[in-house]
Amino acid sequence: MNSIKTYLLTFLLITLFVNCKRQPAVPTGLVTEKAMVVSAREEASKIGVEILKKGGNAFDAMVATEMALVVAYPFAGNLGGGGFMVYRMADGDVGALDYREKAPLSAHKDMYLDSLGNVIPDMSTKGATAVGVPGTVAGIMEVHEKFGSLPLEEIFEPVIALAEKGIVVTENQAARFENYKDLILQVNDSVTTFPIGCKAGDIVKYPALARTMRLIAKNGRDGFYKGETAKTLSAFIQEKGGYITEEDLEKYEAKWRQPIIFNYKDLRIVSMSPPSSGGVTINQIFKMIEPYELAKFGHNSEKAIQLFTEASRRAYADRNYYLGDPDFTSIPLDVLLSKSYLEGRMENFTFETATKSSEVAHGSVEIVESMETTHYSIVDEQGNAVSVTTTLNGAYGSKLYCDELGFFLNNEMDDFSAKAGVANMFGLIGAEANSIAPEKRMLSSMTPTIVEKEGQLYMVVGTPGGSTIITAVAQTILNAYEFNLSMQEAVNAPRFHHQWLPDVVVFEPQGFSADLKENLKAKGYFINEERTPIIGKVDAIRVLEDGTLEGGADKRGDDTAIGY
Ligand code: GLY
Repeated sequence: MNSIKTYLLTFLLITLFVNCKRQPAVPTGLVTEKAMVVSAREEASKIGVEILKKGGNAFDAMVATEMALVVAYPFAGNLGGGGFMVYRMADGDVGALDYREKAPLSAHKDMYLDSLGNVIPDMSTKGATAVGVPGTVAGIMEVHEKFGSLPLEEIFEPVIALAEKGIVVTENQAARFENYKDLILQVNDSVTTFPIGCKAGDIVKYPALARTMRLIAKNGRDGFYKGETAKTLSAFIQEKGGYITEEDLEKYEAKWRQPIIFNYKDLRIVSMSPPSSGGVTINQIFKMIEPYELAKFGHNSEKAIQLFTEASRRAYADRNYYLGDPDFTSIPLDVLLSKSYLEGRMENFTFETATKSSEVAHGSVEIVESMETTHYSIVDEQGNAVSVTTTLNGAYGSKLYCDELGFFLNNEMDDFSAKAGVANMFGLIGAEANSIAPEKRMLSSMTPTIVEKEGQLYMVVGTPGGSTIITAVAQTILNAYEFNLSMQEAVNAPRFHHQWLPDVVVFEPQGFSADLKENLKAKGYFINEERTPIIGKVDAIRVLEDGTLEGGADKRGDDTAIGY
């Protein structure tokens, strides 16, 4: 009799457990069987997929997608900027590539200061003086050399065809052209062939860019960093008052880096290491929230927002003080990422009341990034995955457009701290670890990330958004993993952000109730209600339990998932 009772009890418990086990989120984004590219523009995702269908792997598709974004998304897609890539091979091997811009050889710590030691307005943000040595072409060539399988010319062919045939201007793009028209004209002395006057529906062609790309397709990195292109580019920048020389271009090298890898519950998260702050900061945030049962608090609930905000506050304080180019600055990663240190950081956290940023140490601060960057995610048929974030820094970078070569130049020099203790163009304050030096890389927030669950590829994710990149990527992962949203829902869900200083929580315009904000205010949180920008534009892929792929293409832009 007793054994029957035990049997029935066990059966009941198992049934209960199985029924209570959370069902995986039903996908709401595009689902495909084998491969997918999600990027800021349909044309770029299409070209990436075309390369995959031709038998190319995720790395070939990366080269094609990156170049297609130069044509279709000049707002951030670039030949004149830089970026970061995190990859995971189908066999689980992971790595990261840094093709961040560098300061030119003639750069020095005080280069943006006047004789009285004051920061000269606009000098690190607008025009030729703001330009860092571009890294994008070196980055894609490094990737192609190490992992590519198709010939470069074959990969470039559809991109060059797109530049020649032209792209159709979208509503969003026409609005951006209009917004930045005056600045672009001002920086380029009112003469530029860049099509700023275009309306939605117009077709825009880029013949000069097609010609530059042909040289790169034929000669690889030498097609950009040496010879005709390098001569034209350096002469153009110098004629406009900038610092980049042929020697700067020739010396540029992309660098393979060890990514930041950590566990969060049963996830293994692989993200970008310095000179991006993304991986370190996201690691700190996840580890500070790990001891809590976040899922039980509810998605975007008061408690979930408090916990995430307090972890972000503490992580960004460290970011701004300790992080910089690891080739120039010694970063105490072993301490910053250790369990005891992070437990200590959260010791004074309570759900009763907000911590004040003035009470969270680290004197000098910097969050220097702007919003205009772009991210794309790729998974190929073999299961290789790449996560890439690339940027010109500001919208259309420095706004300096080289007519002869057909592309914009970055204003990444502004990601350095021009002077410790002085607010930058975003009202934020600089720190010593990120001061300017010849050939140094400026600190970034870009957070291309790949997530594994139970040893398998689970998610490829990233976003633009300057300093908000890190929180947007973290919230997207948590939305799917803790709150069981589909990939598309996780990407679309409303986001919030806190970065230590300024000591405010920023909420997106939709999705957070007045009551919720009032309750947080009552606990001492400062809420920025004047500024409610969109936060990030996430492009992600989730691997479903049956091995198919779900895309998450952010509804906030023209972003598109395409696959097969
Ligand atoms: N310029 C944006 C970033 O690197 O984070």
